[in-house]
Amino acid sequence: EIKGLLFDLDGVIVDTAKYHYLAWKELAEKLKIPFTEKDNERLKGVSRMRSFEIILEIGGLELSKEEKEKYCTIKNNIYLEYIYKLKQEEVLPGVNEFLNDARKKGYKIALGSASKNAGVILSRLMLTDTFDAIIDGTKVNTAKPDPEVFLLGAKELGLKKEACIVFEDAKAGVDAAHNGGMKAIGIGRKENLPNADICIPGLFHITIDDLMNQL
Ligand code: G6P
Ligand code: MG
Repeated sequence: EIKGLLFDLDGVIVDTAKYHYLAWKELAEKLKIPFTEKDNERLKGVSRMRSFEIILEIGGLELSKEEKEKYCTIKNNIYLEYIYKLKQEEVLPGVNEFLNDARKKGYKIALGSASKNAGVILSRLMLTDTFDAIIDGTKVNTAKPDPEVFLLGAKELGLKKEACIVFEDAKAGVDAAHNGGMKAIGIGRKENLPNADICIPGLFHITIDDLMNQL
């Protein structure tokens, strides 16, 4: 029986992918690396450092660890300027209703995100108290598709992994759920998330009961 719901943040709760893109684009321009919105798809669900390494690969550039860290900090500062302006209305359609309904029905809810900025994002969106547990990039060592972030989420909810399902918009996240022995609800297009157990365009016009009937 499913008792816990584990949610990715970026692309599931809030559309921060566009701000990650704008920040990476600004950095790529400084380094004279061409970087498109299509390239940005490859960065979804991927850690900050790994994202930068993908951009460097695109540009055919190699940098030292220190330089990479310096640029990652610059990117994050650009990103944070957008995040500090993030408005509550930027929560994705249906998310608040979906979460409130699930809470009322007794489900436990956790965040499972690679982002080190999850805390500030949830607080900007007034969602901190909606989550019974928050697992983010500051708490985990291994990135998705490793299941660590979701296994820790289940643990902090006091539930077995078999009692949890995952909501993800990235392939790496769907794989992380499966690697942890959990089912994954894909948020987005089926062609981008072929492995998801169910795929839906978003959390609007749907309830947890509808999903449970389909699983
Ligand atoms: C999420 C996003 C990625 C981002 C990563 C790290 O997984 O989908 O695009 O790179 O978090 O986020 P951070 O806020 O720590 O740079
Ligand atoms: Mg995501």
